[in-house]
Amino acid sequence: MAGGVAPPGDKSISHRYAMLAALSEGPSELANFALAADCHSTLACMKALGAEVRVEKNLVRMTGRGRQGLRESRRALDAGNSGTTIRLLSGILAGQNFTTRIAGDASLNQRPMKRILTPLRQMGARIEARDDNFAPLEIRGGTLHGIHYEMPMASAQVKSAVLLAGLFAEGATSVSEPARTRDHTELALEEFGVPVEKHGRTVRIQPNGGAQLTGRKAEVPGDLSSAVFFIAAASLFGGSTLHIQGVGLNPTRTAILDVLSRMGASIEMLALRTAQGEVMGDLAVKGAQLRGGLVEGREVPLVIDELPMLAALGPFTEEGVEIRDAGELRVKESDRIAALAENLRRMGAVVEERPDGLKVEGRKAGALRGAEIEPRGDHRIAMAFAVAALAAKGPTTIRDAECAGVSYPAFYDDLARVAERSE
Ligand code: S3P
Repeated sequence: MAGGVAPPGDKSISHRYAMLAALSEGPSELANFALAADCHSTLACMKALGAEVRVEKNLVRMTGRGRQGLRESRRALDAGNSGTTIRLLSGILAGQNFTTRIAGDASLNQRPMKRILTPLRQMGARIEARDDNFAPLEIRGGTLHGIHYEMPMASAQVKSAVLLAGLFAEGATSVSEPARTRDHTELALEEFGVPVEKHGRTVRIQPNGGAQLTGRKAEVPGDLSSAVFFIAAASLFGGSTLHIQGVGLNPTRTAILDVLSRMGASIEMLALRTAQGEVMGDLAVKGAQLRGGLVEGREVPLVIDELPMLAALGPFTEEGVEIRDAGELRVKESDRIAALAENLRRMGAVVEERPDGLKVEGRKAGALRGAEIEPRGDHRIAMAFAVAALAAKGPTTIRDAECAGVSYPAFYDDLARVAERSE
């Protein structure tokens, strides 16, 4: 692996800026906005709710009509494959004076929504869901009151849904998380003009009886969760030197760099700066011998989206990779534990699948061979196995490979560009 790559704008941050820009007064200009299909689902929803949206490649211009400026959508909103869209937007929709129906694709409509219904209902929201847990959701907006919510699981989406509903609630809203999760919502709220208080693992907002959010210019850092596929690929091959440019390095996202470094990866951070409270910089990655190891406990929520790549590196490591306490992986875009175990085995890996994780044997269990991969429509499974395929013997075919576009439409082009062939 050689040369440079700039992964697309961060998906999590793009969703949040798009939602807050739609609730702001005046124009916003969002540079390096994620080209991800997921974030375009959010843009389409905000447009249907009355925001002006113009997209010029990765520059998004939006004009909102202020915090009370959303309008009823005539059609049901389509969140596509995006859990962040439906869960965060539900918080906003709960506080509107109109009713909204929102649903997604077949995968999203099978993901649990009870986790947001419970706190939003405590705030006074009226939401109906299929089997009281799944989209389509019908959200009858109305008056909300602030609550303190102790989250039963470490989920940034749940935390964010409650905080965003708190924008429309009477009184203060606070959320405590059992373990630290990404804090992009907190940082974005502050940037758009809403003060946020943080005490340990509790976040609180007091929307002050309707102070306005203000449109702004913002630059979205590159997505570290997308960069991880390149970090992994460069680590796998001895002579690699890869430069990854303009990546988000928010400390609630960089645990994966600690995990990989602990396993022996060579990753250097360069040119650090901040944009809207988000740390960003470049990464220089060299090929290395990976030892492998264990990921568990409080580290898990901080690396949740990177676990597919980490597991797929397992067979190339000295000791293998073991993941525990990650039952949440079963309710992502696919059942990622099952998808990883199945596809790793197709390539000849030795895998023990467990309810909350998996153990992937290392190099001693034998070399991987190319295989036909079934990513189950899950972008991160497709990309993780594209990387594993580079280091396997023989060709690999990834079915439905374009599902990578959910977060990274140019992934295979970028990978092909930095992968040098030695015959
Ligand atoms: C996200 C939070 C995580 C993550 C998802 C994006 C976010 O989900 O897996 O890809 O943008 O807040 P959970 O909050 O369900 O853990």
